[in-house]
Amino acid sequence: MPWGRRTRRRVERQRMTGTTRTRNKKLLAWVEEIANKCKPERVHWCDGSQEEYDRLCAEMVESGTFIKLNEAKRPNSYLCRSDPGDVARVEDRTFICSERKEDAGPTNNWVAPAEMRAKLDGLFEGCMRGRTMYVVPFSMGPLGSDIAHIGVQISDSPYVAVNMRMMTRMGQKVLDILGDGDFVPCLHSIGAPLEPGQPDVAWPCNADHKYIVHFPADHSIVSFGSGYGGNALLGKKCFALRIASSMGREQGWLAEHMLILGVESPEGEKTYVAAAFPSACGKTNFAMLVPPAEFEGWKVRTIGDDIAWVKPQPDGTLRAINPEAGFFGVAPGTSIKSNPNALKTLNANVIFTNVALTDDGDVWWEGLTDETPAHLIDWQGNDWTPASGRPAAHPNSRFTAPAAQCPSIDPAWEDPAGVPISAFIFGGRLSKTFPLVFEAYNWREGVYWAATMGSEATAAAVGQAAIRRDPFAMLPFCGYNMADYWNHWLAMEGKVENLPRIYRVNWFRKDENGKFVWPGFGDNMRVLRWIVDRVRGRAVDAAESPFGYMPRYQDLNWAGLDFAEDKFRKIMDIDRKEAEAEARDQEELFNRFGSHLPDEIEQQRVALLKRLEEAPDTWRIG
Ligand code: GTP
Ligand code: SPV
Ligand code: MN
Repeated sequence: MPWGRRTRRRVERQRMTGTTRTRNKKLLAWVEEIANKCKPERVHWCDGSQEEYDRLCAEMVESGTFIKLNEAKRPNSYLCRSDPGDVARVEDRTFICSERKEDAGPTNNWVAPAEMRAKLDGLFEGCMRGRTMYVVPFSMGPLGSDIAHIGVQISDSPYVAVNMRMMTRMGQKVLDILGDGDFVPCLHSIGAPLEPGQPDVAWPCNADHKYIVHFPADHSIVSFGSGYGGNALLGKKCFALRIASSMGREQGWLAEHMLILGVESPEGEKTYVAAAFPSACGKTNFAMLVPPAEFEGWKVRTIGDDIAWVKPQPDGTLRAINPEAGFFGVAPGTSIKSNPNALKTLNANVIFTNVALTDDGDVWWEGLTDETPAHLIDWQGNDWTPASGRPAAHPNSRFTAPAAQCPSIDPAWEDPAGVPISAFIFGGRLSKTFPLVFEAYNWREGVYWAATMGSEATAAAVGQAAIRRDPFAMLPFCGYNMADYWNHWLAMEGKVENLPRIYRVNWFRKDENGKFVWPGFGDNMRVLRWIVDRVRGRAVDAAESPFGYMPRYQDLNWAGLDFAEDKFRKIMDIDRKEAEAEARDQEELFNRFGSHLPDEIEQQRVALLKRLEEAPDTWRIG
């Protein structure tokens, strides 16, 4: 019998659709409880099939939420325009509701769990009226793998249901594996009940109340009011980072805002690295990097572009998996020149959100082509010409595409054992002070450099400060006290025999005219190759700067790029005054953590100041 009899009786009021079956008592009881509270018109269990996906997309075309793109140009693909007020993560509405405030730490918003639950209780009452409640079982990580974790998202957004199918392993197969086991409950509502006779809008959401809430004590998530990205696709930032980082702390592993890539040498040597850059700072691009043509035989393979789960192994290594199954990538700036692998991934089966529509039913965004189309429909549905004086695509417009479609996907990308990590790379968007690349002298110093990373504002979250500290690129994603998280990283030193080396990179240093000095994108391979050479015990000669080991001009391969030594110096020089100001400014961050701050981190800052004292006004290589 597919359903418990009691459950069946109680949910009779809602019309059930979908063929999905489970006997998981906790799940059945939870779905019933939520259905009774939210009062949807019907409940649909997602089976994850292609037929279901196609049907939901067709329904959204019918309702005006989706626009079907030109089938000849972009098969099986859709454009979706969000509400103009629901375009990015809302960090000021994101909460970590641990029992004690200090366990959330000074960088997270906190409300006492009981108070927050009471608040949410009121908001969820009847919030799905007139809508379908989707039950979306999903696995973060390859199905059935030891390191995968299962979640179930309840959502009243069909947009969420179809995006979750691409971003995770979703549907009946997950319930089959779940059996009677435990799962992370992820409750989501757009918070826009539909009253009888009231016309629906293309992107319903709640303008007044948005809550993205995490309860680390019982590993649960509740999200209200937004339908966009990380606010609503709860497997991603909410589960795979905030809740998973908290699980990782309990269980001795790491959940990180990192891409994972593999570098293959002409001899077939494979080296995997993981890299953390803040949102909209280059992870997807780096993960899909195409080396310069002159790097004959060198290949970069993609494992993941946003999230890494990293676990210590009995053999003394760290191995990482990508818990996701798709890419939710930034559209603007993505072109055949900057990221050909991404563009090829987008040939078919894509959902585009908030990009512009061309007159022939295809998509466009700033940076896609050198030539701007003469006419477009912009991301808000208005006529647009190059004279309009505003972007045609929203700066945080995104594509959702299956990872399996990426030409550079690594053969091991779904290996449940993960891939061994040889280096961690951290990089912010910093127009000054920080050089193109340096290697930390040791693990502790590397943790310090990651902890103090800064970055300039992007469109990935609303209301970001012009520049901010973004430790480990995890500022908006760490599910517990950030200083305790640093301690967790420091503690890996005693637990992992073959620790990866740690690097800082900066693709974004600018010249006096405000232009990026470094060409970036494929040319980042020059830096990546140096890193690989370092961890493989080649490139043993390096300059020793106040920051760390740095490549000399002759240590990078310049084949195919005209980049003179004086230009190189421009992005490698360390200005002592700027560096000292940076180190002093870090104190402000550290002071916020009180007794949670690991001594080691402050000691590293003092050691840096001491090295800078002895440095010349401008430290230069060679
Ligand atoms: P999230 O998905 O928000 O986590 O972003 P991400 O870290 O994956 O960033 P992504 O690779 O999508 O890049 C964001 C923006 O930075 C895009 O507009 C890119 O074109 C631009 N970008 C990426 N790499 C480089 C680079 O090496 N140099 C420069 N100048 N820009 C870059
Ligand atoms: C990010 O902001 O880091 C993203 C997009 O990857 S979102 O899914 O909205 O978090
Ligand atoms: Mn991200």
